[in-house]
Amino acid sequence: MNQYQTLKIDTQNAGVAIVVINRPKALNALNKAVFRELDAFFSLDYKQIKNLMGIIITGVGEKAFVAGADIKEFATLDQEQATALSQNGKDVFDKICDFHLPVIAAVNGYALGGGCELAMACHLRWASKNARFGLPELSLGLIPGYSGTQRMVELIGKAKALELMLTGSMLDASTAANLGLVNHVSEEGALVADCLMVLGKISRNAPLAIKATIKTVNAFFDKQINGHELETQIFGGLMVTEDAKEGAKAFIEKRKADFRGM
Ligand code: CAA
Repeated sequence: MNQYQTLKIDTQNAGVAIVVINRPKALNALNKAVFRELDAFFSLDYKQIKNLMGIIITGVGEKAFVAGADIKEFATLDQEQATALSQNGKDVFDKICDFHLPVIAAVNGYALGGGCELAMACHLRWASKNARFGLPELSLGLIPGYSGTQRMVELIGKAKALELMLTGSMLDASTAANLGLVNHVSEEGALVADCLMVLGKISRNAPLAIKATIKTVNAFFDKQINGHELETQIFGGLMVTEDAKEGAKAFIEKRKADFRGM
């Protein structure tokens, strides 16, 4: 877990890995190394982390979650390299979005451009009161390149998404929550504790059902998949698992279910 230069991985809380983006001097901007290391982390054999039930992604310090893609890497890119940069960013963020366990963004300050896109790739977003969200790429002569044009529409709708991108305005945490961009707003000192609490609550449910829910909800946004059909297939498959038998039995016996992930 210590092989990273731009990430700190904290596994001190049982069952949770906290991935801290650690480039304080650049407000945690996403350079190539951060993408490489996020890709490596999300490709791990998760048996390495005992009883892992979820992941929290945050930024080091109190000022920024992530202030975007690293603009200083843009200066020399030609068209082919810029296209590859965008594709690579999307692939890494898709890996997070498709991850089989819940991933929560703990947004502790600026989440701009690629930082906002990273937060949107996570399954849930908790924001501290000082969080600020925006997609200011147009001010650089660009557009969001890590699926921000798509995920922002998914989360807040076309009109508000276009307004945010075209004006380059920033949203404060409570406005972001009102628009549905973030799930909840936390007191600044309580952000990670709140994320740990929600992961604890999720983990009381059956592991295979958690994984299946992420997959089925993601299918809504995948034009190649019929989410209704997938839901029916997965529902049928889950019914014959040990955990579904245990869930029904525990309900009838009026006790807490003991799920085993089988
Ligand atoms: N890339 C590289 N370095 C960055 C950075 C970024 N996205 N954001 C901040 N930094 C660096 C600054 O250059 C500065 O470094 P130096 O001290 O070496 O000059 C340091 O972080 C501190 O930043 P500021 O002095 O600017 O801090 P501030 O408090 O005055 O402003 C801020 C904070 C409003 C977040 C401002 O830094 C800012 O606007 N950052 C850029 C935000 C942005 O445009 N993000 C989108 C990037 S493009 C993108 O993400 C494309 C994509 O979708 C693929």
